[in-house]
Order: sequence, then C-alpha cells, then structure tokens
Amino acid sequence: IRIFVPKDAQAVALGADKVAREVERVAAERGETVTIVRTGSRGLFWLEPMVEIETADARIAYGPVKPTDVVSLFNAGWLAAGEHPIRVGRPEEIPYLARQTRLTFARCGLVDPLSPDDYVAHGGYAGLKRTLEMLGRPEGQTAIVDEVKASGLRGRGGAGFPTGIKWSTVLLAEADQKYVVCNADEGDSGTFADRMLMEGDPFSLIEGMTIAGLAVGATKGFIYIRSEYPHAFRTMTDAIAAATKAGYLGSSVMGSGRAFTLETRLGAGAYICGEETSLLDSLEGKRGMVRAKPPLPAIKGLFGKPTIVNNVLSLATVPWIMANGAKAYADFGIGRSRGTLAFQLAGNIARGGLVELPFGPPLRELIEEFGGGTRSGRPLRAVQVGGPLGAYFPQELLDTPLDYEAFAAKGGMVGHGGIVVFDDAVDMAAQARFAFEFCAAESCGKCTPCRIGSTRGVETIDKVTAGIEPEKNLTLVRDLCEVMTDGSLCAMGGLTPLPVLSALNHFPEDFRRAPALMA
Ligand code: NAI
Ligand code: SF4
Repeated sequence: IRIFVPKDAQAVALGADKVAREVERVAAERGETVTIVRTGSRGLFWLEPMVEIETADARIAYGPVKPTDVVSLFNAGWLAAGEHPIRVGRPEEIPYLARQTRLTFARCGLVDPLSPDDYVAHGGYAGLKRTLEMLGRPEGQTAIVDEVKASGLRGRGGAGFPTGIKWSTVLLAEADQKYVVCNADEGDSGTFADRMLMEGDPFSLIEGMTIAGLAVGATKGFIYIRSEYPHAFRTMTDAIAAATKAGYLGSSVMGSGRAFTLETRLGAGAYICGEETSLLDSLEGKRGMVRAKPPLPAIKGLFGKPTIVNNVLSLATVPWIMANGAKAYADFGIGRSRGTLAFQLAGNIARGGLVELPFGPPLRELIEEFGGGTRSGRPLRAVQVGGPLGAYFPQELLDTPLDYEAFAAKGGMVGHGGIVVFDDAVDMAAQARFAFEFCAAESCGKCTPCRIGSTRGVETIDKVTAGIEPEKNLTLVRDLCEVMTDGSLCAMGGLTPLPVLSALNHFPEDFRRAPALMA
C-alpha cells in the first residue's frame, strides 16, 4: 500500500518528516507493508501535513496529521480508508480543490516530484514531444513562439508582459549563444506558488524551460532560486539530474539531436535580485545591482547575450499550452488576462493555501469562499494584493475582479497573485511606514529617489504619527511618493508608493491618531 506524505517545505515545517518517520515505525511494528511516497503539497495548508492513502479506486486523505495521531489512524484501519476524526476523504472532492481549475498545478501533490516516469504517466512531456515535432517542420521555431503568443500567457512574476512577445524578441536576436533564465527568487511577502511548484512538480519547469530553449535557440538555462528556499533548491537540482539521466536534458533532448542543459544557482538573500537585471548580475557572480533598460535582457542579458528571463510559473505553464494548444488555454480568463493564475492566500486567513483559478473572480470570493475569512474571526480591514509593493484594498474594494487591468483600474496590482489579509487590529500608518522601511532595507542604492527617498519616507511618517506638523508632513509624503514613482530606475522604488498611498487614501484615520491632530 502506498502512503503519500508531502515533503513540501510548508508541510515539513508543520511536522511532515516526523509523521513520515512515525508511519514507517508503526507500520514496521505491525508488520504492514507500506511504501511511503514523498510528494509536493496540494496547497491546502490548514490541512497539512495531509497524508493520502492509496486504495483500489481512490486516494483518501487525512489531515492535519500529527505524529501522535499515527497509532490511532492505524487502529482505525486507515490502510483500508477507515473512518477517523481527521479523515477528509478524496482530496479532489474537498470543495477548496474541487472548485479550482488546476492547469499549472495539476500534478502538484499528486506525483512523486523526482520520478520522470510518474511525470510522464500524468501527462508530462507531451508538450515537449509536440514541440520537437513542430521543430521538424519549416519555420518550426516561429510556430512555437506563435503558439505561446496565441495562448495569451503573460509573465506570472507580476509585470504581466506577454511571454510570447518576449520569446520572439530573443528568437529574432542574432547571437552565437542565448540563454533561458528562470527567476525563482520569489521574494514577495505572502507568496509561495513558485516554491510549491518547484518542490511538487519540478519537471514541469524543466520541460517549460526546455521548450523555451528549443524555441529561441538557447542551449543553456539557469534556475536562480532564493536562498530561503533550500528544499526547492534541492528538489530542482535532483530533478535536473534525473531528467538528464532519463534523456530529457543534455546534448540530445529526447533523442532529437538538439541540446539543452540546465543548472541551478542559489541566491544570497537580496530581494532586489528578483529584479531581472540584478538577478543577471548576481548570476554572473557580481553583486546584484539593477541595470538600466534598454538594453532589454531579451537583447543583451546574461553575459551580454540574448536571454529569456521568465518566472517559474510562466515557464511551468508552457508544457500545458504546448500539449493542449493555445486556444484551450486562452479559453480561460477574461479581457486581456487569459488562462489561470495561482492565487496565494496568506496572512490573517482561516484557510491559507494555493487557489488556481481562471482570471476574473472577485477578491471577495477568494477571501471569503476559499479562505473562510480571517483566522482571528475579527472583521477584515485590509487586503494587500501583489506583494509588499502592492496596494492595500479596503472592504469596499473587495468586489474588484482579479484581472490585471480591472485591478489596476482600482489602483491595485495583481502581481504574482499573493493575497495577504489583515483584520481590524492592523495599524495602516505602521504598514505605510513598513513599506518605506522595506524599500530602505532592500534598495540596491543605484538611484537617489529610492535610496534616499525610502529613508526620508520612514522619517516623515514617524513625524506624522508623532504629531509633528502632520498635515505638512503628509503633503511631504505625497510629494516624495510622486518623485519615487516618476524617478526610480526600477519597480522597487517605483512601486513603494503604491502601499504607502493606498494606506493613506483608504485609511486616513490611522494617520490622524497623532496628539496634535486630535487636539
Ligand atoms: P517591466 O514591466 O519593466 O518588464 C516586464 C518584462 O518584460 C521584463 O522581463 C522585460 O525585460 C520584458 N520586456 C519589456 N518590453 C519588452 C520587449 N519589447 N521585448 C521583450 N521583453 C520585454 O517589469 P519588471 O521590472 O520586470 O517587473 C516589475 C514587476 O515585478 C512588478 O509589477 C511586480 O508585480 C513584480 N514583482 C514580483 C516579485 C515576486 O516575488 N514575484 C517581487 C517584486 C516585484
Ligand atoms: Fe536600486 Fe531602488 Fe533604484 Fe531600483 S529603484 S535601481 S532598487 S535604488
């Protein structure tokens, strides 16, 4: 009997390794023959560690499992899917999962992340197979890039730039060497989708990068993973070795005679290295500093060569598109936001986790229907979408649809899909101060509005909250935000005003608690 125990970092943090050891111990003690398969996570974090038992016709899940539950689970006959207070039934029937549209995350939590055979058994490498067939025809590379363009896929790292157009720029650039770089420096607060994918289904990223390389004529790729993700780094590195051994990477990808190789690289803990040009500097062995654009990395990227720099999920979605066709993908979503997005529910939320849905649901649906409201049970007051550089939305904006344009029209940013919930205990002046403080800590220091502005921002908010000439200082904060928005070289300084101004505009009362104003 196979027992599936996640080895996703989130599940491990909640004791999954201890649970796996205890299952092994109790099974041995009772003479039960079980095989423990370590999978990724299904993304239902409040149920982790969620353990699944394979029965003749389905997997049956139990969660959250503590090591101390294991004996009673065996006593309850869980190997035959027996009843138990923490039995949750078939995972696919849990409403949180049943209501999702899992395309990019279809295999996450289901497969053994390090088994190429399991990957293929669940539909893997069908996209690469079709890509290789297309390459055998005239104008094959252009046809592949056109397919990605037609799917409407936009950069999932946050900026939402059309992936196919980026690829086409690299394809058209002439050079002796081109590269594919995966940005796995997922630094946004409240996000974990890249990590989950790398730990749960690494071959989909490997396949996506291979398709990208073959499409634009790049023979080498790098995956730049943040240092805070040691589990993802290990899984990706091991998966690359397994894919190479199985002939999916190397000098002749799937026996095609076409070469593509991959390597992982570990960051050193700088948020700014998630900005693509700093990331390239870091990959080249330098301190990560933002480069001025143009030239775009697509023209002059890694070591000065044309380079695709894409987020994990942009690349990991490509195999689905190539296997099922551009139209099938473009059929999901609304407006100019096509396909699905992996929303990540975090912060003060009852049911945190990963929710992959076609673009377009209102923010409220994610928070209330999937997330179950705040974890504290207190009223929701603010939601930050799109990471630390995203806007704070109040209750009144919860019906805003989650698509790039509709969200931007309300002053927000969907970004990488992170949703962080705050209840009514939040102090929004402190959150605005934090945005400046974060920018001051993470600024690369190259341009003045960000380097100096962020520190002046902290000081000025402090004056406001201390009641020192608050109206004058609030005007200064707004002026400062204008300068940072217009004058910063990259999104770090350029977007910091978004959380600051949204806090000021939607929650002005939090800035008016100062003694001088209350007088
Ligand atoms: P950007 O809008 O400057 O560029 C987007 C991408 O399109 C870049 O890769 C750029 O090189 C490429 N591009 C633009 N024009 C092109 C052309 N004509 N041909 C080929 N490629 C072209 O945005 P940027 O600075 O790369 O990213 C900012 C975003 O990053 C923010 O909106 C934010 O959502 C997101 N972000 C994500 C984080 C995460 O952890 N995922 C962390 C911080 C920010
Ligand atoms: Fe560096 Fe900040 Fe300027 Fe970006 S905005 S280049 S992080 S100093």
